[in-house]
Amino acid sequence: MSLAITPLTPHIGARLTGIDARRPISPAEVAAIEAGMDRHAVLVLPRQDVTDEQQLAFTRNFGPLEEGANSTVRAAELRLAPAFADVSNLDRDGTRLARDNRRRMASLGNRLWHSDASFRAVPARYSILSGRIVTTAGGNTEFADMRAAYDALDARTKAEVETLVCEHSLIYSRQQLGFSEFLPDERVSMRPVLQRLVRTHPVTGRKSLFLSAHIGAIVSWPRPEAMAFIRDLIEHATQPEFVYAHRWTQHDLVIWDNRTTMHRVRRFDDLTIVRDMRRTTTR
Ligand code: OGA
Ligand code: MN
Repeated sequence: MSLAITPLTPHIGARLTGIDARRPISPAEVAAIEAGMDRHAVLVLPRQDVTDEQQLAFTRNFGPLEEGANSTVRAAELRLAPAFADVSNLDRDGTRLARDNRRRMASLGNRLWHSDASFRAVPARYSILSGRIVTTAGGNTEFADMRAAYDALDARTKAEVETLVCEHSLIYSRQQLGFSEFLPDERVSMRPVLQRLVRTHPVTGRKSLFLSAHIGAIVSWPRPEAMAFIRDLIEHATQPEFVYAHRWTQHDLVIWDNRTTMHRVRRFDDLTIVRDMRRTTTR
């Protein structure tokens, strides 16, 4: 079967067929996927019934893994291998997380528009999310195009954001939802990192806004002024024109470029429905 890419919206997202993520892929196929990512920023690969090992092997085609995504979960509590971000609502023995579960509280942060690992000095490149058990009511994942959002800024705002630097931390995104129970060692590991607000894609040369719920300050700006501005930019960047909303089918594998997109999960009834989603990530 030959590789085919079909756009899903004018700006962002495409469906990719003709690749079997369960088997080793050729350098030409890797290059074609990367070219598709550079153009569409999000690729949906349907019918990829991968094992954890196959998902990891597929992910390694796109660079070194970003490990430690579960930094706030103790090793003994992990359901999946540490290279995975477990974004399911399941605990180690496969039962749904209780309403007041700490991991559940933290994962509610995924409902806010964000870019994965933007709070790390070396943030994420690709995220690859496998839908093992998907929801039919709620639980869509939405993606917003930060290149189109940048392009649509007026000239004055473009000039203003050009040199701005933001502080990103997991503490900031969790605080937005009123979650503030951080352990002393977490406060150290979650110390803010600095990221430029405007990024230039190394291959396409396109500029994009590096926005994320993890932003809690702009360097040398008063904090409330910074946060009001960041809110305005996020509102601008996530208007429907720039968004692709993905409704999951079991065994979809969705790849997004965290350098050029933000994403969020929509609300679903996680206390009664099982949603098993497993993410691998490259640096
Ligand atoms: C993620 C994430 C969204 C979802 O895996 O990084 O934000 O739909 N997940 O579960
Ligand atoms: Mn995420």
